[in-house]
Amino acid sequence: MTATPVTKPLLETVLGRRQERLPIWIMRQAGRYLPEYRELRARAGSFLDLCYNPELASEVTLQPLRRFDLDAAILFSDILVIPDALGQSVRFEVGEGPRLEPVTPDSIGRLDPKRALEKLSPVIETVRRVRAGLSSEKTLIGFCGSPWTVATYMIGGRGSSDQAAARVFALTQPEAFARLIDILIEASIDYLAAQFRAGADVVQLFESWALNLDEVAFRDWVIEPNRRIVEGLRREIPDAPVIGFPRGAAGNLPAYARQTGVNLLGLDYGTPLGFARELPAGLGVQGNLDPLRLLAGGEQMDVRVREIVAAFRDRPHIFNLGHGIVPETPIAHVERLIAVARGAY
Ligand code: CP3
Repeated sequence: MTATPVTKPLLETVLGRRQERLPIWIMRQAGRYLPEYRELRARAGSFLDLCYNPELASEVTLQPLRRFDLDAAILFSDILVIPDALGQSVRFEVGEGPRLEPVTPDSIGRLDPKRALEKLSPVIETVRRVRAGLSSEKTLIGFCGSPWTVATYMIGGRGSSDQAAARVFALTQPEAFARLIDILIEASIDYLAAQFRAGADVVQLFESWALNLDEVAFRDWVIEPNRRIVEGLRREIPDAPVIGFPRGAAGNLPAYARQTGVNLLGLDYGTPLGFARELPAGLGVQGNLDPLRLLAGGEQMDVRVREIVAAFRDRPHIFNLGHGIVPETPIAHVERLIAVARGAY
């Protein structure tokens, strides 16, 4: 007798096959809005200590699935473990966000993509443990930050609303910038391939700062590095399923969708639902509720959730927020969101 293989609705959707069941996950689903996260976080030490602790990080990854009817777990880690693993100093200041020692043309030469994967081995161990603890119809999502987004933190030393430091650096020091992007591409391919080998089913490329770029910069700094990651990754992991999330890409979305090779496109909440008509027919999408509609809850949320589900009826759709859930979000609103989205499908 051969066992019937268990299918994973979310993975199938990434592969382009619309499912009977609406697949749902929530960006930053493991995080501070959950009391069990705050409790565990308080005894983990620093945020990076938590990212490098497979026992605690795997537990945090699974926490949201114990509470909610979600279709995927996303590895608990951060996009800034790559700069840390490359040898740059990275700290998370409580209440302030990340602080990095900004790279210079000289210090870029000292970043070492060859040693990065060894430093990241605890994160890979987390993937292994999550896979072991996850039931077989659930998809395990791995991820990394896309090179441009990670470079904005490495160059600017912190988050910024316009990424001006990184844009000026890229335009005035093009050779050092190209070297940095090459290093990030190499480290990201190794890291994502290792996540697949440890049990990830899908990976998401977080290009969180795809806004504020003209079309030339978007092509060179966003499309091209993401395309090279997808291509390089698939040399290691044939047909590796990839979700691309270029937040703020706006009018550059169709070019990103056509040229990077990603299987499915994450939409931020600023993307009008009708804009999907500009995207290749049949391309799957993910998104795209405003996280503050979830925070506020009530009738306005229900109405918008139904509009989103209806708008993507003719293509594969993964329901998600259009950016990360915020810490003040009530748990009951998350339960309601999932029920309304499933009811509308
Ligand atoms: O989605 C998940 O549940 C998986 C875990 C995850 C985290 N960060 C955990 C985290 C993922 C996928 C990320 C990605 C990430 N990290 C991005 C891309 C997505 C996005 O939100 O745009 C970016 C830009 C970062 C960088 C980062 N990490 C910032 C700017 C901050 C501070 C902001 C804040 O909310 O405090 C972090 C910290 C961080 N990463 C937290 C979590 C749960 C909060 C830190 C804590 O618990 O003390």
